[in-house]
Amino acid sequence: MSRAPLVLGVESSCDETGFGLVSEGVLLGQGLASSAAQHAEFGGVVPEIAARAHLAAAVPTLRIALADAGVELADVTHVAATSGPGLATAVHVGLAAAKSLAWALDVPLYGVHHLAGHAAADTLEHGPLPAQSIILIVSGGHTSILHVGDLVRDPIEHLGDTLDDAAGEAFDKVSRLLGLGYPGGPAISRAATGGDPAAFAFPRAMLRPGDAPYTFSFSGLKTAVARTVEKIERAGEQVPVADIAASFEQAVVDVLVTKALRAVEDRGLSTLVIVGGVAANARLRAVAAERCAARGIELRVPPPRLCTDNGAMIAAVGDLLVRSGAEPSGLGIAADPSAVLHGAQLPLLR
Ligand code: KG4
Ligand code: ZN
Repeated sequence: MSRAPLVLGVESSCDETGFGLVSEGVLLGQGLASSAAQHAEFGGVVPEIAARAHLAAAVPTLRIALADAGVELADVTHVAATSGPGLATAVHVGLAAAKSLAWALDVPLYGVHHLAGHAAADTLEHGPLPAQSIILIVSGGHTSILHVGDLVRDPIEHLGDTLDDAAGEAFDKVSRLLGLGYPGGPAISRAATGGDPAAFAFPRAMLRPGDAPYTFSFSGLKTAVARTVEKIERAGEQVPVADIAASFEQAVVDVLVTKALRAVEDRGLSTLVIVGGVAANARLRAVAAERCAARGIELRVPPPRLCTDNGAMIAAVGDLLVRSGAEPSGLGIAADPSAVLHGAQLPLLR
């Protein structure tokens, strides 16, 4: 009798070291370590420090994941690892660990696209995706609207991306200029509590008629916040951090939700899935919920702990690949730090 697959997912693309264990769509357990505190003084992730931290955290974090799931390493039947995109040095550490494990256990290895992992995270909470959906990915490095069918079998259609900064990057940069530290998303969110989201009319880019319908741009917003802060400081006044943070958040959220809903309606679909680190943002979740409910659109957003990087989401893609009968990538797979999202597996299935 063949046993149910037990997929170990390995994530190391940025500053989180994650291991997750998934079997047939069910998250059994996970371990997560973060080097965010080590990057705080630099205001952003330092690749070399992230790589060293992954190396230090890998074995202890894997142990935590196994204990959390109540399984032994020998029970693992497949290994999946982020092979891109991400910081090259960081991806290399997790991918090398995954290769060692797959070789030692003599089990198949799958190279997974990190952003497909973000999308798959939602299936751990809400079950299989519908036949067709619009997925808004909002992370530190990417902001995209995708039309997705079967996440691991069908090609993924990019409807639009950002022309400049990713949404998370905008949070991180504005946080830095408000002196709120890294990572910026949670810091801005905390600072925005009690602030007035209508206090400052920051620009909503790319929303004019004739603008590309699903394309984003956040660098002008960041500059507008910087100018506002400079002006207030020059006038010798106290910077109203809560109001600026809340107004900035509202501007980002407005554009994200407006464009994502436009894609859902233009494509005649009924489900919007929002994933990636910025999907942990409370204002984004609330505004999206309100606007989706008003239009009868189903909204799916993973719980915040599955929005930011983790190993469970990579295991979730691996588990979907295994169950769809995908060919393993094999131990020869290389890291692809700038991989574009065409499909869930790297290299592409032909
Ligand atoms: O998906 P993720 O964990 O890593 C990447 O793949 O990039 O996303 C990290 C990004 C960071 O820019 C961080 O500031 C942002 O997600 N983020 C948030 C929140 N939590 C994390 N942005 C807004 N609000 C949050 N609560
Ligand atoms: Zn991510």
